[in-house]
Amino acid sequence: MAVDVVQEIKLRTDLVELISVYVPLRRSGRTHKGLCPFHAEKTPSFHVDGERGFFRCYGCGVGGDCFTFLQQKEGLAFNEAGEMLARRLGLEWVRRGDTAEKRSERERLYDMMALAQRFFRERLKDAPVAQKYLERRGLAPETVEAFGLGYAPPGYQALLGWLKGQKIAPEEAEAADLILRGEHGLRDRFVDRLMFPIFDLEGRPVAFGGRALQADAIPKYLNSRELPIFHKGRTLYGLHVAKQEIPKSGFAVAVEGYMDVIALHQAGIVNAVASLGTAITEQHVGVLRRYSDELVFCYDGDSAGMRAATKNSSLFEAAGCNVRVARLPEGDDPDTFVQKHGADAFRSLLTQAEPLLDYQLNTLRAGYDLTDETKRLGFVREAARIVAQSSSSLTRQAYAAKLERTLEMMVDEWYPGQPDQAQRARLALNQEVRRLLRSDGGAPAGGGHPTNGRVMGRGPTTSGPRVQPPAPVRSGQGAEERYVLRAALSEDRWADRVSEQLTVAHFSDSNLVGVAAKLLSEEGDAAGSAPQRADAVKADPELAGVVSELLMDEAPLNDEGLDRCLEGLERAWKRSRKLELWRAYNAGEFLPEDPRREELRRLSAELEGRQRREA
Ligand code: CTP
Ligand code: MN
Repeated sequence: MAVDVVQEIKLRTDLVELISVYVPLRRSGRTHKGLCPFHAEKTPSFHVDGERGFFRCYGCGVGGDCFTFLQQKEGLAFNEAGEMLARRLGLEWVRRGDTAEKRSERERLYDMMALAQRFFRERLKDAPVAQKYLERRGLAPETVEAFGLGYAPPGYQALLGWLKGQKIAPEEAEAADLILRGEHGLRDRFVDRLMFPIFDLEGRPVAFGGRALQADAIPKYLNSRELPIFHKGRTLYGLHVAKQEIPKSGFAVAVEGYMDVIALHQAGIVNAVASLGTAITEQHVGVLRRYSDELVFCYDGDSAGMRAATKNSSLFEAAGCNVRVARLPEGDDPDTFVQKHGADAFRSLLTQAEPLLDYQLNTLRAGYDLTDETKRLGFVREAARIVAQSSSSLTRQAYAAKLERTLEMMVDEWYPGQPDQAQRARLALNQEVRRLLRSDGGAPAGGGHPTNGRVMGRGPTTSGPRVQPPAPVRSGQGAEERYVLRAALSEDRWADRVSEQLTVAHFSDSNLVGVAAKLLSEEGDAAGSAPQRADAVKADPELAGVVSELLMDEAPLNDEGLDRCLEGLERAWKRSRKLELWRAYNAGEFLPEDPRREELRRLSAELEGRQRREA
């Protein structure tokens, strides 16, 4: 059954046409090529072979068929991609393990939700109070229309009665959590509420959030329960629109509420999404990072919002995303802020957003009265704990150094004109930082890792197949990356080996990824000798500084060292690939004949065999 459909879909889907929706492709010989939609690049290394039905990026290593493409690009599960592809071809998709019954259950739910949305939208037209409310909240009619907002009338029987008139069995609506069955019979679940349809990635309504019109009503929002077509842990409000904009703007904005998303979109900030009042899950991370791995959190400007922003952003950081946090004035949320101050003011908040660790440390510092001597050590401990928990050893090291510098400055303020006392305090505090960083199992502070001040900035990032393991990142990896790049930039034969054996996906040091991408691109490869390649990379002004710095490093290079580093990077890549496959496997994304199964088996065996030999 499903297998035949899978084959038929692969055979009949015009991959070039499918992918062209996302990125312009040009014919190049027998195949097509264009800029990779999975990572940022300036010269095309993304190839699509329409005849054979597969794509591959020689820059970041992603590749696959029409299923893989949609899964990765749209963040869909295999079955969801299958449904979408089948619909395009007018075929019927049968989920694996799905009975006809289960499938029609899903279809009936979609139908019911669409019907209910129509009903709620119609009712809004004759609900002046609800309309006034929306007006007061600053929503233009076009915005109300675009987000499909509606109104559920009072009386407990409005939807129920309408369904009866339409000759639709109430059981259908009950299954969709729109009608409740209680002691006194059936009644509407949503009563006198503004209705926010929640859309899936394809823009179909799959659930509702109903907001009470009175300020003090409890609960303020009533949401649909989990349904076969609605999973809170995976759904992001606004993403069906934002998914177009996020790759273009290069980052997503994560906010807390429906109203925040709507107000921002109305103001032209169309890359904003919200989770549904629930904590961010790993699945959310997986979905969102298909579009970008840069993210700015902008949660309510109160302590709960700040805590939630920190907690949720850590999850993204652990997955290797570049996370920043924007601060709103106390008492504002993105909605009130953008309504009061406008889109430009909001955009400038986004530009001022701090990297997660800075945000945490600054927030911590603001919460301590540091003129009180007894509180200082508490601050230091807490700060060191935050730094030690950071997921990447690279940031840990950079921040430990930064924290020590900050402490030195603070100590000078604390002990003006008392150099001896200041010196003693400095030593004590720095010792404390080192001790705490070590005891947390983090990488040793100041572990000789090269940092040149760009670590905390927004250096180039890769997206694509690689998910960085949350912890622990091998501390030597940055050094290995540096070694192979220095080798590739200095000797032709080393350059050849590096470009044969590595892809950008092997690199994770944010200082070096850009250099690697350029060097390993076709353009870099075509440049010829190592010095010419170096020049080709330097042509990019953003990279010139890093390249010069690499070339000035005179530490000796040799074949053995290169072998060791290449092997180390390959192993690190395999580990993270294995982790990524495990995640997909655990999320139930593998079919029995999925080639990733074999890949996972192979990687596990290889990595295990190696560990045994090492032991
Ligand atoms: N939420 C919920 N149930 C509640 C309260 C909140 O599900 N009882 C969820 C909703 O998804 C809501 C989000 O948490 O959008 C954020 O809550 P809040 O900031 O209170 O809502 P806003 O969207 O800002 O709504 P409003 O501005 O109308 O108060
Ligand atoms: Mn609000």
